[in-house]
Amino acid sequence: MRMHRMALAAGALVLGLALPTLAGPERIVFPKDYASAYVPLGAVDRYDSKMIRSVFINPEAYKSYQAGKPLPDGTVLVLEQRPAKLGADGQPELDAQGRFQPGGAPGFIGMQAKKAGWGADVPAALRNGDWEYAAFKPDGTLNPAVKLEPCFGCHQPRGAEDHTFIGWRVMNDLRAAGK
Ligand code: HEC
Repeated sequence: MRMHRMALAAGALVLGLALPTLAGPERIVFPKDYASAYVPLGAVDRYDSKMIRSVFINPEAYKSYQAGKPLPDGTVLVLEQRPAKLGADGQPELDAQGRFQPGGAPGFIGMQAKKAGWGADVPAALRNGDWEYAAFKPDGTLNPAVKLEPCFGCHQPRGAEDHTFIGWRVMNDLRAAGK
């Protein structure tokens, strides 16, 4: 019984780690022209959700990558998620390279961006340095229905990779290729 109560208390503590205000996501400006003006870093076929996730970065940050420097102040990363084209069996149809093909317009756009001084309002247990996160609807307005705590929680352990996934991998590839 005692153990049970302790477990509940621990759970409440984790749930209590809410972000204080909406000041974070509202700082992030949606780059309407990201698909043409940003640099595509790669795409991931998500078999779990039958979605294609494409990642883009602002050109200034990409140049910094190429120079072998860390992600600079003002870095903006965009993750665009769109449904894969499904076959009659309900599974994603693969192209000649074995990759998913787009089956519709993007439905979710997640962003992470960093600027000196950002993140100061984020509880220490969730903080990702200067990064803030935001979820947008395809029309470029903030999607308040998407909770942002999981974004911070899942990207936080990647501190050694500056809290990024695809971004870090591409940077290492560029370095290895001497570009
Ligand atoms: C359960 C873990 C998890 C959660 C929760 C999560 N992410 Fe991610 N995020 C990932 C992974 C893994 C990738 C790499 C792409 C992939 O494999 O799907 C990624 C990639 C990204 C990228 C592209 C940058 C890069 O370096 O890969 C952005 C931007 C991003 N996430 C934003 C968000 C936002 C905004 C939220 C919350 C709405 C969020 N993430 C929630 C795991 C997570």
